[in-house]
Amino acid sequence: MYMAENTPTIYQGLDGVYITESKICKVDGTLGRLYYRGYSIDVLAQNSSFEEVSYLLLYGKLPNKMELESFENELNSERDIPDGVKNIIREMAKKADPMETLRTAVSALVISDAEVKDNSPAANLRKMVKLISKISTIVAQIGRLRAGKDFIPPAKNIGHVENFLYMLNGKAADAKLVKFINTMFILQAEHSSNASTFATLVTGSTLADIYSAVTSGISALKGPLHGGADEEALRMMLAIGNPDNTETYINEALAGKQKIMGFGHRVYKAYDPRAKVLKTWLVDIDKTSNGKVKDLIQIALRAEKLMVERLGQSHGIWPNVDFFTGPLYTWAGIPIELFTPLFAAARISGWCAHMLEYWEHNKLFRPLEYYTGPINLDYVPLDKR
Ligand code: CMC
Repeated sequence: MYMAENTPTIYQGLDGVYITESKICKVDGTLGRLYYRGYSIDVLAQNSSFEEVSYLLLYGKLPNKMELESFENELNSERDIPDGVKNIIREMAKKADPMETLRTAVSALVISDAEVKDNSPAANLRKMVKLISKISTIVAQIGRLRAGKDFIPPAKNIGHVENFLYMLNGKAADAKLVKFINTMFILQAEHSSNASTFATLVTGSTLADIYSAVTSGISALKGPLHGGADEEALRMMLAIGNPDNTETYINEALAGKQKIMGFGHRVYKAYDPRAKVLKTWLVDIDKTSNGKVKDLIQIALRAEKLMVERLGQSHGIWPNVDFFTGPLYTWAGIPIELFTPLFAAARISGWCAHMLEYWEHNKLFRPLEYYTGPINLDYVPLDKR
């Protein structure tokens, strides 16, 4: 729609603006519900696997047994990463933030893909399978190098998440840990037109390839107002240190007009349903935890209670998916600087699904700015200024 330039309505941060139609994800911000392709997130988190959810997002339906097996095999066969990408990871892992290493390594995956410039749906799907599979390998290898260990080649006949944990830790993970990381991957796989998905779409809308589009998505996810909030939330809990300090810390932070990371959302004005799933995990893990993990869980639960009382109903500021991640990932043995890279390893499926859908009716993103500066200024030559 074209509007006369003298009376524009400006939607700062595109707040409230619809950018496209989509059949992928419904975020009901009023009721606090989330659906992938019509399936409620609670049901998927309880029953599904990351592979099945990725298939659902990409293909628009749940796979039957054969379709799932074939998709799993495709992912399985794409786990290795090229030597050139390994070299980049070796060079960067300890010198750069893991999100920076991930961004560069994912961009470099083009070196082993002859189809980069083929923008047909079939080629794009093949590239997307590669991306979904290889991002987890890259994250695991970044984690290993940062821990002073060497690469572990991917295993072949185990699930995607199981293999991620195997590559990261060098040993088989127990069933509860695999279930939890699968749950995290499912919860973080997709979320409509969030900043990183939008960034992906903006780049893709120029008909740049999927690697370029996803590299934009990773860049946008990095920031603390988006995916980076999970790391900041844990840093706050670590700064609180002792559960008994929680109330004082939060009260002082709010009095100082500080934002509490892991709370608030542009769309949810109710409890984020993903945070509800994670709270259930937190309460369960609390029963058997001790030491640092127990303290972090207690801090998280006390902070959540206080924030909900202070800002929940009155301001529509509730916990989001990033709040409970810290204590849970600490229990799971995931180091803090891998939280956001793991978020990317999950969100890759949503980015790809949206890109596929958007390319069906591509339209270049090109919004307007309302210019408020001067015009027709006299140009004064350099030596006269
Ligand atoms: N703690 C305290 N106050 C808050 C918070 C918070 N976490 N979030 C929003 N507010 C206040 C904010 O200070 C402002 O108050 P005032 O009107 O008095 O200036 C008001 O609420 C509106 O905030 P806003 O930032 O203008 O609103 P937004 O719609 O742009 O906010 C948000 C969305 C996610 C950027 C914001 O809630 C925030 O910064 N939260 C903390 C970061 C975070 O947890 N991000 C993860 C989002 S969910 C997962 C993901 O996308 O990765």
